[in-house]
Amino acid sequence: MSQAQPASRRILVTSALPYANGPIHIGHLVEYIQTDIWVRFQRMRGAECHYVCADDAHGTPIMLSAEREGVSPQELIDRIGKEHRADFAAFHLSFDNYYTTHSPENRECSERIYRNLSERGHVVARTIPRLYDPEREMFLPDRYVRGECPRCGTADQLGDSCEVCGATYDPGELGNPVSVVSGATPEFRDSEQVFVRLADFEPVLRGWVRDTFAPPGEEERRRVQPEIANKLEEWFAAGLEDWDISRNAPYFGFEIPDRPGKFFYVWLDAPIGYMASFENLCRRVRSEGGELRFDDFWAAEATTELYHFIGKDIAYFHTLFWPAVLHGAGFRMPSAVFCHGFLTVGGEKVSKRRGAFIQARTYADHLDPEYLRYYYACQLGNGIDDVVLNLEDFVARVNSDLVGKVVNIASRCARLVHRLADGRLAGRIHDPALFDRFANAGAAIAGWYETREYGRAMREGMGLADLANQYIDEHKPWIAARDPERRDEAHAVCSTGVELFRVLAGFLKPVLPVTVEKAERFLGTPPLAWSDLARPLGPGAEHRINRFEPLLTRVDRDRVDAMVEASGGR
Ligand code: MSP
Ligand code: ZN
Repeated sequence: MSQAQPASRRILVTSALPYANGPIHIGHLVEYIQTDIWVRFQRMRGAECHYVCADDAHGTPIMLSAEREGVSPQELIDRIGKEHRADFAAFHLSFDNYYTTHSPENRECSERIYRNLSERGHVVARTIPRLYDPEREMFLPDRYVRGECPRCGTADQLGDSCEVCGATYDPGELGNPVSVVSGATPEFRDSEQVFVRLADFEPVLRGWVRDTFAPPGEEERRRVQPEIANKLEEWFAAGLEDWDISRNAPYFGFEIPDRPGKFFYVWLDAPIGYMASFENLCRRVRSEGGELRFDDFWAAEATTELYHFIGKDIAYFHTLFWPAVLHGAGFRMPSAVFCHGFLTVGGEKVSKRRGAFIQARTYADHLDPEYLRYYYACQLGNGIDDVVLNLEDFVARVNSDLVGKVVNIASRCARLVHRLADGRLAGRIHDPALFDRFANAGAAIAGWYETREYGRAMREGMGLADLANQYIDEHKPWIAARDPERRDEAHAVCSTGVELFRVLAGFLKPVLPVTVEKAERFLGTPPLAWSDLARPLGPGAEHRINRFEPLLTRVDRDRVDAMVEASGGR
């Protein structure tokens, strides 16, 4: 599968842009951790891999939140932006750029895309009835209206989507609508709206979904997962309707250049925020004397790789609208869109609306973020299955795997290497077959990371950790060390233990960047790259390790309980 890595991979990766009207919670983190692991893996392999994200700052919910708090939308998004950055930093997310969609670059990109789409005839304007608040004398954006879901009939649903059945719709379809601003019953008034003709892109989209592609040095793969491809088939079969990309004032967003009083719908400029964040990165890199070109990653003829990591709730926007808009405006389409499932706790999707969720901040105030990175990694595969948070399981897994198996190898062996040889590793591997087994596992584990089968990568890694511990138990170097005749053997065994630990640490580095950084310090190695792992440190090198420092402590059940309590939870 993933053999020698050609140095030629150039990759741009994004995670979905979180809304700037609320805190990051541990549901969101499934996605950011999933993406960050992949990005860190690619960088370890020697790929050029850029990771950009931003806050999604536009739209009605943000206006509503700002109004409720009595601040301007700008003040709200500035504050939330700071909080998001701090939360993401706490979870070691390695963004090259974290920006906002309310930026000059995004305005430029959005206008450019709109202009291109218009010039190529993909935009039409039509007058249609829209909900209007007769008391406040304004058109009502999606979430300024509540009413009964047109699909399942549940009362008091949002103007654009149903929390109960997940349907998305137009606010005009709600039963018994009520204006959120005045409580009045809205009426229909004619309004001119601007649409993108999605049907123009059906053949291109069908081709894009059907196509496979092969990144340099990798196997052929699909652009979307089978589940999403099936969804797309359904959407095609239902017919692609024109997509309304405009909203009437008042709206927090970008005004449409040739249509005063009309604004781009947030879902038009949000994915364009990926481009804008990257453009902002290019400008910064160049201002620092480096080189990074927007066109290399976005021009229609670009041969680089572009991947979007998203949750399954926003697949429609990323596999239909977004590739259509890109293509229609003369840009490249994504290499692939990677969809994940939801985090559920006790069978319920974690979301900010439904309470009973743990904020990223609350988690980080109580527990080591690397525990969560590992716990998610163990559950993540390349499908859209949900990830389950079960706190007992979380504690057991982290303690038995990371502390009991992995860190244990290092702590047992390192102390002995210091006592027996003042930190110098033996000049030979005591069990070369075992070392080779570790080194050779690299190809399979790389393949699992590459295809986002992190759970399998972790299981493979823990299998190796078991082997290393068995090996040490079998040879009991702490006993051999007491016998002057067997000191050399003891030294060779615990040195081999350290060597095995090093390979394993390298395998886990995308998931546990901080723990492995500490391990690199104690091993006395420069940052581990994937290609270093198969070569041992000791033989022929007179390598010395540093004092062992604690790498990771056990999860304390009391801290977990305190976190749940601080979240107002059960
Ligand atoms: N702003 C849009 C995305 C625009 S992308 C151009 C949005 N924001 S969000 O804050 O609601 O969600 C951000 C990402 O987090 C989405 O991919 C979403 O699927 C993901 N998650 C939000 N809650 C989640 C869980 N409970 N579990 C897993 N992922 C979840 O959508
Ligand atoms: Zn419904």
